[in-house]
Amino acid sequence: MSRRIHIFDTTLRDGEQVPGAKLNKKQKIEIAKQLAKLNVDVIEAGFPCSSPGDLEAVREISRQVQGPTIAALARAVKEDIDIAWQAVCEASSPRIHVFLGASDIHIQKKLRSDRGKAMEMAVEAVRYAKSLCPEVEFSTEDGSRTDFEFLCRIIDATIQAGASIINVPDTVGYALPEEYGELIYRIRQGVPALDRVLLSVHCHNDLGLAVANSIAAVRNGADQVECTINGIGERAGNASLEEIVMVLRTRFENYQAQTRIDTQEIYRTSRMVSRIMNIPVQPNKAIVGSNAFAHSSGIHQDGILKDRTTYEIMKPEELGIKEQTLVLTARSGRAALKHRLAELGFTLEAEIFERVYNRFIDVADRKKEIGAQDLQSIVEIEVFKVPELFKMHSLQIMSGNKMVPLASVTLEREGKLYTDAATGDGPVDAVFKGIERITGIPGKLRDYDLKAVTMGRDALGEAMVRVEIGEDIYSGLGSSPDVIEASARAYLNACNRYFANGGEPK
Ligand code: KIV
Ligand code: ZN
Repeated sequence: MSRRIHIFDTTLRDGEQVPGAKLNKKQKIEIAKQLAKLNVDVIEAGFPCSSPGDLEAVREISRQVQGPTIAALARAVKEDIDIAWQAVCEASSPRIHVFLGASDIHIQKKLRSDRGKAMEMAVEAVRYAKSLCPEVEFSTEDGSRTDFEFLCRIIDATIQAGASIINVPDTVGYALPEEYGELIYRIRQGVPALDRVLLSVHCHNDLGLAVANSIAAVRNGADQVECTINGIGERAGNASLEEIVMVLRTRFENYQAQTRIDTQEIYRTSRMVSRIMNIPVQPNKAIVGSNAFAHSSGIHQDGILKDRTTYEIMKPEELGIKEQTLVLTARSGRAALKHRLAELGFTLEAEIFERVYNRFIDVADRKKEIGAQDLQSIVEIEVFKVPELFKMHSLQIMSGNKMVPLASVTLEREGKLYTDAATGDGPVDAVFKGIERITGIPGKLRDYDLKAVTMGRDALGEAMVRVEIGEDIYSGLGSSPDVIEASARAYLNACNRYFANGGEPK
């Protein structure tokens, strides 16, 4: 008989810790609803004591998102636990997730405490959380580097205090698969009380082993895996949900373990998270990268044409990746656009559809044919856009190899047009400076990435930027057949994110 593995998604908590990926309430709810469609067992919706905004977002997810358990993270202190409970108490299935450093490094260097006091703190926190919430998870932070005997004792004590899920994280991504698998096996042997609760793992990817470690843990008795979409998360990220699910599915005979994930929703969820958080997926990323099912060598293409199983171990359809055929032009009307969008799985509210239509016409006027990937890029950028205090109106650039580039930028704010000009180290720099002069926001460009959405000289360019404004980093995405305009749109998108988060224009 096969075992069931619970999927605990922490995209909205550990994933949101990525610099520049901070989400607003609406964006978090949008992703949470998609995670429910993906059928994850648990959504860790946030760390409510980190900000009033996060508390509000987790509370709203608890109200609106049905199906998965909604979890909120809390340090092992009463105030955090109270706030976590306020955030999830309206969920149909709430969970408080309490964590405390358990290794000597964390206890002595971070908490400036000792094992005895840490034990008391953990037990007290779990007992208090359990008095509020029917389901409590306890995480032994830095579990993989914790003294084994102490680890077993703290796990046993927190189960007695009411924890029904025990998580043993590899917080720093230091473990090796054989070692971590063995640790999980030995913990199961060493703590008999684990038979009545779920044993969970949470692996970071510092050595690129997060998925391998999670799978080794499953083989050795873990019941729950904590992971994120596209593997995003603190530092090098967390174990990637789509990789874990597809390993267990594709190699079922090896593990005899299944998840309840609807794999048809994987690709859509991956794209949504990448767009809303503005974190591009690397082309060679397993399962969801743009090259994951692209065959370039002649020998491979020949094999695929004869029989797909020659070079494919999974079917793209299993992940909800659709064949992309029909193209649209500027003459395709609203009905054709709506029909094509429905084929791609998008049903848009009237107001968003109009925005998408206007942008589609703007792009189609300059690019003869709009394929599925172009359309997907246009829709995702429009749908997940933050409210725009400043809108792009027009741009003029003068540039050449023997002159200082000059850009004139016109932006619209509340129906009024504002124009300014600037020179720069290159045309993109000149445009960014022009935008800065109008918005009054001096940003530092931390990251800039430009790629073509499709092949061909008239390909749609997609730009991604990360801009440091004040204390924070804001990411922005923009697309256009003109790469300077795509860059300008991305930069403006980052500025608008800053304003949407309460930043003041000049
Ligand atoms: O990496 C970690 O240990 C965590 C805990 C809060 C579970 O994210
Ligand atoms: Zn983590």
